[in-house]
Amino acid sequence: MNQIAPKKLFIKTYGCQMNVYDSDRMADALAPHGYAPTQDMAEADLVLLNTCHIREKASEKVFSELGRLKELQNEKRATGGDLMIGVAGCVAQAEGEEIARRAPMVDMVFGPQAYHRLPDMLAKAEGNRHMHPALRRAVVDTDFPEEDKFAHLPAAKKDVTIGRGLTAFLTVQEGCDKFCSFCVVPYTRGAEVSRPVAQVVEEARRLADAGVKEITLLGQNVNAYHGEDVSGRAVGLGELAYLLAEIPGLERLRYTTSHPRDMDDALIAAHRDLDFLMPYLHLPVQSGSDRILKVMNRKHTAAEYMRLIERIKTARPDMAFSGDFIVGFPGESDADFEDTLKIIRDVGYSSAYSFKYSTRPGTPGANLTEQIDEAVKVERLARLQDLVNKQTSDFHASCVGRTLPVLIERVGRMPGQVGGRSPYLQAVHLEGSTDLIGGIHEVEIIGTSTNSLVGRLRQAVAA
Ligand code: 5AD
Ligand code: SF4
Repeated sequence: MNQIAPKKLFIKTYGCQMNVYDSDRMADALAPHGYAPTQDMAEADLVLLNTCHIREKASEKVFSELGRLKELQNEKRATGGDLMIGVAGCVAQAEGEEIARRAPMVDMVFGPQAYHRLPDMLAKAEGNRHMHPALRRAVVDTDFPEEDKFAHLPAAKKDVTIGRGLTAFLTVQEGCDKFCSFCVVPYTRGAEVSRPVAQVVEEARRLADAGVKEITLLGQNVNAYHGEDVSGRAVGLGELAYLLAEIPGLERLRYTTSHPRDMDDALIAAHRDLDFLMPYLHLPVQSGSDRILKVMNRKHTAAEYMRLIERIKTARPDMAFSGDFIVGFPGESDADFEDTLKIIRDVGYSSAYSFKYSTRPGTPGANLTEQIDEAVKVERLARLQDLVNKQTSDFHASCVGRTLPVLIERVGRMPGQVGGRSPYLQAVHLEGSTDLIGGIHEVEIIGTSTNSLVGRLRQAVAA
């Protein structure tokens, strides 16, 4: 029995849900090597920054965080301790060597395709610690491997952070072949890869056995999923949903993020047939202007997107949509922006994420010259956000009087309250005992408060 106290691992995660999932898997991969997670950075022996490169200032943020970590490292060394530092994620992938050069106190720099090699990298980096600091160099790994990294990562377990309880993320697809002209993902995450069906089903089953009731399938382009089954046939996301619906104990399925071009008939049919598949879809359109959509290389028009929305609503009339929008893409005129407001009005989103365009080095968008003034971007963003905020509160208000199945996840903000999520991912608070936690209960919505719904328990439908 190893009597040595475990070393402490602190992971700071930036960006998307896939990074959240990856951070958990890194923690899993390091557990057998004596690292236990901590929530307190000050007591960590190893700090990993899991970075995001999607929008601007990403690398500056990383360098300023590294500055703070350097101080912590110095303090620890002054008292005979030490701190190892690793930079992971998409900034590491994009700027690996640059980070190693500019931040010599970093021990490891590695991209998302190298996580299964983390224990080896750590062993190497620990070996480097015995070298004179002037000679020491970070271990850098930004290769895109041929092998399947998921096959080499430990499967999610209950006793580690991914099994956080009732809901969990499960990455089924990674990378992107769409090459939208503003986006770094195809460069940082690489080409589209789907995990085999059996691997996904096995991981979902394991999570369900550990008490998880709701899984969100993740992928940069999740609805392009085409995992192989045992016979080598490609299985799409729609078909995968039917397979996951069979898993005992698993009550709800979500997936994110989808590209309109990959919303195929089988997936729409799954929304029609499976109550298990939540009626909430994140389907970014980015712009409502055909001219801008073309330069963005989105591969569809505004009218095609609207037709798709209608088809999905025909299959599942209570579907709620969320979206992503970029304002101030190069060349965006007032008329183009008005088209974006129009598509938002036509769809009626339940929620939306919106961003000012920022040039990402290495993307085709970086070569476009007709940049939009910052002041115009700010003004357009504010107008767009006013509109979507109004839509979100209208959507919340439209739920009042309805009875919705709510997965009760936690104690509420007030004593005697519990909180959970509606099918549309809204936070719901209600009076009720903690015995309700873990069940899906019928809740009558009686009011709204900022960003959430207030409900009253009707009856239990599933334990
Ligand atoms: N500038 C602004 N927003 C961007 N996004 C991706 N790249 C950029 C960029 N260069 C937004 C898109 C995408 C979301 C994840 O981030 O809206 O859907
Ligand atoms: Fe980026 Fe476009 Fe791929 Fe989404 S579909 S990850 S926005 S390139």
